[in-house]
Amino acid sequence: MADFRTLFDLSPETLDALLDRAIELKKLRGTPEHPRPLEGKTVAILLEKASTRTRISFEVGVYELGGQPLTLVARDTQLGRGEPIEDTAKMLTGYVHGVAYRTFGHDRIEALARNADIPVINALSDDFHPCQLLADLQTIREETRKALDSIQVAYVGDGNNMAHSWMLAAAQFGFELRIACPEGFDPKESILELARSTGRGSILITRSPEEAVRGVDVVTTDVWASMGQEDDAARRREAFKDYCVTQALMSLAKDDAIFLHCLPAHRGEEVAAEVIDGPQSRVFIEAENRLHAQKALMELLIG
Ligand code: CP
Ligand code: NVA
Repeated sequence: MADFRTLFDLSPETLDALLDRAIELKKLRGTPEHPRPLEGKTVAILLEKASTRTRISFEVGVYELGGQPLTLVARDTQLGRGEPIEDTAKMLTGYVHGVAYRTFGHDRIEALARNADIPVINALSDDFHPCQLLADLQTIREETRKALDSIQVAYVGDGNNMAHSWMLAAAQFGFELRIACPEGFDPKESILELARSTGRGSILITRSPEEAVRGVDVVTTDVWASMGQEDDAARRREAFKDYCVTQALMSLAKDDAIFLHCLPAHRGEEVAAEVIDGPQSRVFIEAENRLHAQKALMELLIG
């Protein structure tokens, strides 16, 4: 059973074709030619953390592919009362044809995938957010029209699930990634080693946002306190105060550089309002592309 736990679950060739298919599905949206490979199928969207974009894009995506979306907010299910994820996996296998799962520890995604005989899609864990990267890379392909193996990307901020996903993307698509983060907030060493072990792409870790951003095609960032880190927000605001993507920082990138953010964003923290609301920002195209990219993914895995 093919799962999508991280970007390493699909080959570089498959990922590349998937982005093209996402762009095609975007064009076919609302036309009679739009495919319905999920006809007669149900896809569960199981959420242990809050979500706006992921929930909407999966629900609409399943519906537009002809299927039935079933959103399960975990706290309203027996999972929220302690039923094991392993039992949940076996139970879901008997009812639905695929599951998108948002959780805390990445080991819970692995446990669901091990115990379910249906495709499991990672809809965000503490360590990875691969669906977001599909949309981000689709946006770069559409908006820059540059070959993905020729670009340079700067990620400014926390070494979190988004940073990790950008690292795996750099390896899979062969681009140059520069991550600027404060000491103590580096990406996980094991994931860095995994990405570097492929020998594809390159990843620089620096303390200097300026060094990361100079001359790049894409600048991106993410919140300083992720879901589950709310109690640490004040300490993080202090640690990250020099890591805001301001217009001055943006001006070090290429003139035609674009700005991406997975959202939700905190204006005045990780990004200045003039950047995220300015002409280089593509964040709402990026958010919409979650729909098209995940449709291409579900067509491949569940269709
Ligand atoms: N970017 C993203 O995953 O957004 P949500 O948390 O709203 O789903
Ligand atoms: N790093 C953020 C991403 C939200 C889409 C979080 O995990 O909360």
